Amino acid sequence: MLNILVCVSGGGTNLQAIIDAINEGKIRNTKIKCVISNNEGAFALERAKNAGIDAACVSPKSYETREAFNKAFLDKVNEINPDLIVLAGFLVVIPPAMIEQYRGKIINIHPSLIPSFCGTGYYGLKVHEKALERGVKVTGATVHFVDEGTDTGPIILQKAVNVEKGDTPKQLQQRVMEQAEWIILPQAIDMIANNEL
Ligand code: GRF
Repeated sequence: MLNILVCVSGGGTNLQAIIDAINEGKIRNTKIKCVISNNEGAFALERAKNAGIDAACVSPKSYETREAFNKAFLDKVNEINPDLIVLAGFLVVIPPAMIEQYRGKIINIHPSLIPSFCGTGYYGLKVHEKALERGVKVTGATVHFVDEGTDTGPIILQKAVNVEKGDTPKQLQQRVMEQAEWIILPQAIDMIANNEL
């Protein structure tokens, strides 16, 4: 059984996709042990509660320094002791000590086809604004391992999505979530849980 920790910051639609995929048997041999958010108002925490999953909020705002937050965050993660850490719309920089300790066990979903539209400052709606600005005809999403860089770790899965004429950033974001993120993140977890990577 793969015990996973899902880290969230916002709406939690990727978390919901994981919960639903486990319930539908699309993700095998996997249990969400805990959900952690840095944002106490994240609807993702509601989703965890509704699904009967343990959840915690560890917010940088509650600590005097970034170092103090990093330690508290890593202590909480170690208490959970997950086999895999899934960053699902998580907007906090992962402490270097955590990357070291969980190397090869942290994955992230990014809403573009890396190496396009990624790196520092590229998150959420901004990614889609930049894709539309550049005029790409195809974008998509990427699941990758997390290393010390930003969106630089080894790529696990990608899925392409067409940009439609007249798309707004919001419309493109929704299509990338529906047609890519919510499909490849559960798929990647299932592959890892069943040694199919
Ligand atoms: C999504 O655009 C996702 O690609 C990015 O964070 C955004 C919100 O995700 N990583 P969620 O609805 O909180 O899962």
